[in-house]
Amino acid sequence: MPSEDPAARSASASVGAAVAPPPAFAEQANVTAASLREEFAENWPACWERAADLLDWRDDYEAVLGGDGPPFRWFEGGSLNASYNCIDRHVEAGRKNQVALRWAGRLGESRAYTYLDLHREVNEFAAALRALGVEEGDIVTLYMPMIPELPVAMLACARIGAPHSVVFAGFSADALATRMESADSEYLVTCDGYYRRGTPVHQKSKADNARVELDHSVEATVVVDRLGDQPPLDDDEYDYERLVRQHHSATVDPVPRDAGDMLFLIHTSGTTGEPTGVRHTTGGYLAQTAWTARSVLDIKPEDTYWCSADIGWITGHSYIVYGPLALGATTMLYEGAPDYPEKDRVWELIERNAVDVFYTAPTAIRAFMKWGAEYPESHDLSSLRLLGTVGEPINPRAWKWYHEHIGNGECPVVDTWWQTETGAMMVTTLPGVDDMKPGSAGRPLPGISVEVVDEDGAPTDPGEAGYLTVDKPWPAMPLSMVEDTGWFADHEQGRPPLDRFDWAYFTEDAAAVDEDGYITLLGRVDDVINVSGHRFGTMEIESAITAVEGVAEAAVVGAPHDLKGEAIYAYVTPVNADDEATLRERIVAGVEDAIGPIAVPAGIVFTPDLPKTRSGKIMRRLLGAVARDDDLGDISALRNPEVIGELDPIPERED
Ligand code: WTA
Repeated sequence: MPSEDPAARSASASVGAAVAPPPAFAEQANVTAASLREEFAENWPACWERAADLLDWRDDYEAVLGGDGPPFRWFEGGSLNASYNCIDRHVEAGRKNQVALRWAGRLGESRAYTYLDLHREVNEFAAALRALGVEEGDIVTLYMPMIPELPVAMLACARIGAPHSVVFAGFSADALATRMESADSEYLVTCDGYYRRGTPVHQKSKADNARVELDHSVEATVVVDRLGDQPPLDDDEYDYERLVRQHHSATVDPVPRDAGDMLFLIHTSGTTGEPTGVRHTTGGYLAQTAWTARSVLDIKPEDTYWCSADIGWITGHSYIVYGPLALGATTMLYEGAPDYPEKDRVWELIERNAVDVFYTAPTAIRAFMKWGAEYPESHDLSSLRLLGTVGEPINPRAWKWYHEHIGNGECPVVDTWWQTETGAMMVTTLPGVDDMKPGSAGRPLPGISVEVVDEDGAPTDPGEAGYLTVDKPWPAMPLSMVEDTGWFADHEQGRPPLDRFDWAYFTEDAAAVDEDGYITLLGRVDDVINVSGHRFGTMEIESAITAVEGVAEAAVVGAPHDLKGEAIYAYVTPVNADDEATLRERIVAGVEDAIGPIAVPAGIVFTPDLPKTRSGKIMRRLLGAVARDDDLGDISALRNPEVIGELDPIPERED
């Protein structure tokens, strides 16, 4: 069985009363046809042509979905280039002076790139990458914070058909090395350093340490001078600025890529100890990303749009870079923190840039709520037309606060459910058409087929919790699913039997559907913890902790946290209990080194023993219940029930 029974979660779900789309919004919405879901359903999979029509194809595709699948060949026979679609065609359409990228830096700097500027720099950097030896199909690792050179490098890779692998800048040297190793990536683009909460982080030295750990050699490393103290570079290291200057006004023809060719690789946490590489396609991914940016985020070419995620995660790939740029809009890039220099920073930026659409995570909204409504109230936010959320469930109270205090009751709020694996949005409301229900993401988007099933694979009754399952392929599906059936209906892994479907993907999320088909998400059912909308596998963190000298055993669980949604708690059995304070410090350092500061547990509890089943397995469910202060449930399988009395409550940690 999955590690947790989804039914246990239903009690915590609550959904607010339905809110109709504001008429003023609905009048101007990109999607206004209430019949769109039916149209797509009747005409599936040909309906997805609507998404593909948003792109410029080099060779037209012969079939929207080729073959009966698997393999599923979306837009079979078609070829295109993502960089061309995100840049050149807007320049060719006479929109060269429209701002493509608006950057607000950590130290108050700002920079704007028009589509023409972006075209120039992407071409120059693409030429530079080629000159360094990067060929079509080579994977280029990008290890950079939120600076314009990151999207430029992504689009330069896309231009020459070299898939990028962006590694979140806050990850450690070890984490970078693991990802480069698994991708067999021989090219790296990074920077000297960047500021995190006012202190400089030395990114280049992390990159150097990662290189030492690799089994293979790195052909070339490009370093962006962000801090202005570029360290001396070796022979195989190149200064970004100088490279771009060397290739001044070079142009590189966009390389036509088959619809099913890989656009990029991104790693995410799963249930194994290692991060999983997810490979996204060029055609299907870009089509669904552009389509959802248009139909759900309602982005128009003249809009200024801001998604506050980091590009290091899938949200940033799809909805900072590819979606908005494919539509020719202005996308904002913010390097700083939401509360620096003041807690009104986000609202100040929205006012100053007259942002039309804002997309953020519930964890940020909870922080805004805590800081108080006076901060947004001190700014003119009337430019906003639509608000969105992603990454974790949003409770009705936070939803209403966002709707009222940020949207002035006039902006629809789209609560978008999707995953790294799905590549683009899957379940949410069409903002000009559907009623919104605070706390419920909405119905599956047109063309997306989703069902909530019980343990036997049968559909659940309204309100009953079950497993969220996608039962038809979708254009932005990753290559692993395109090629292979092994991912789903895996009975051995304790997934519900899904034999009655021709094909199904088990999302590892628990959910409940109401009478109107609206889906409320209830959290993960696997060993993945969702901290501030970011995924961490318990196994990954446990292996980092058990690698620390002095640790005998460790188990990691997630428990609710007011701001983060969930927080990580670690139960640790020391080899000897002498010096807990030092061991605690070593564990923190160990997790920082293996993954990054973002994965450090909010609480570390030392215990002489961990609860185990008779077969010797750690009972994480029980530790989770202790951490959540829940009823412990059935403990008859426990070999050492006496340990329960010894598990100290979680210490509170301020952060
Ligand atoms: C969770 C982020 C509730 C879910 C795009 C999913 C959500 C995981 C929502 C994927 C939402 C994402 N409501 N839960 N609107 N959006 N999730 O891969 O558990 O970083 O499986 O992708 O986040 O996280 P990932």
